[in-house]
Amino acid sequence: MSYLKAVILAGGFATRLRPLSCSRPKTLFPIVNKPLLQGIFEELASSDVEEVVLAVNALTQFHIKQQKLSKCGLKIRYVIDPPKTPLGTAGSIKNAEKLVGHDKSFIVLNGDILTSIDYKQLFNVHVNADALATIALCKVDNPCRYGVAELEEGNRIKRFIEKPAEGQAPTNLINAGVYVLSPKVFDYIPERGYCSIEHEIFPVLAKEHRLFGHMFNGLWMDIGKPEDYLLTNKFILDRLALANELKTFKKAKVEMPIAVDTHVVVGKRTVIGPYVTLGKNVVIGDNVQICNSIIFSDVKIGNNTIVDGAIIGEGAIVGENVHVNKRCIIADQAKIRDNVSLNEDLAVCPAKEVSETILKRNIIC
Ligand code: GDD
Ligand code: MG
Repeated sequence: MSYLKAVILAGGFATRLRPLSCSRPKTLFPIVNKPLLQGIFEELASSDVEEVVLAVNALTQFHIKQQKLSKCGLKIRYVIDPPKTPLGTAGSIKNAEKLVGHDKSFIVLNGDILTSIDYKQLFNVHVNADALATIALCKVDNPCRYGVAELEEGNRIKRFIEKPAEGQAPTNLINAGVYVLSPKVFDYIPERGYCSIEHEIFPVLAKEHRLFGHMFNGLWMDIGKPEDYLLTNKFILDRLALANELKTFKKAKVEMPIAVDTHVVVGKRTVIGPYVTLGKNVVIGDNVQICNSIIFSDVKIGNNTIVDGAIIGEGAIVGENVHVNKRCIIADQAKIRDNVSLNEDLAVCPAKEVSETILKRNIIC
């Protein structure tokens, strides 16, 4: 097969991952210490994709360039949403029209999805069906958070409804956030401004009988919400089963699975795991307990502290004898003083300092 092109949509504002997403786009969130986008590049490069267009906003482009990801041999270009006016999913695909060209169909994927989908197979299904668009579909328990497809014979999509109201989803088959588009779809998208492919284009293509679905059963996860993000890391930790981490800490106890990046220091009588990822240069004191948590790089955690089911952003400092409870999110560079307890579901904004115990669900800004 000749080479393929892909557009990665990564210019959303990731509001559901705030305040962690205030300082990094969703597509750069680490999954077991590797930026999600890096994993996407690797998957695409191994699927005959040679050219990638990243549809982003200017800030996301800045962050991606700073990360210096390996391009995996891909030719990577950017299209930028205009300042202050996001283009939506279809608008940003239209923005990529010149770079993508009209010579053949192309793959589109959401930049917040971790999946093992076979892109080549999806492309072939699309070409054989003579479709205008072919959406990868997977089954989920709660379809209302996603785009839902109703299939008819021959894998044609009869109806496509984006985020139906609770109880209104006709099936539990959802848009996996990966699809192939014929260049003719560019003609359906207005020249300028905001347009959503899920709300405005897929329903029209379904009415014209030119929208198809392709079921797949492999790995699929959307990191859009904190609990999804924690779950995705947990799932990958289980699959990787990194046995050699045990050697890393001589005086600490490890409960597998965990993953540890380079230059990590862990004190005496500390217990790490299960389901913990420690980013680069993390320093953890003595008698600390961390489980079910994601610790970004350059974090410091003081003696006698407990972190249970939380996410701690890059460069954050957590003092001694602190208790960070379930679903807490501490954003980049925040500081939690000694002897503070953070109750469940608490979020601390970037670079904020917390010096007293917080019991209510809250966002500290
Ligand atoms: N450039 C650009 N501009 N990108 C955008 C914009 C925009 O205005 N808005 C969203 N995106 C990007 C996001 O960064 C993300 O990678 C992708 O488009 C999808 O946006 P989300 O905000 O994550 O959408 P969602 O998760 O609620 O729903 C989408 O994904 C589901 C699968 O996870 C839809 O495509 C659903 O139909 C689908 O089921
Ligand atoms: Mg999403």
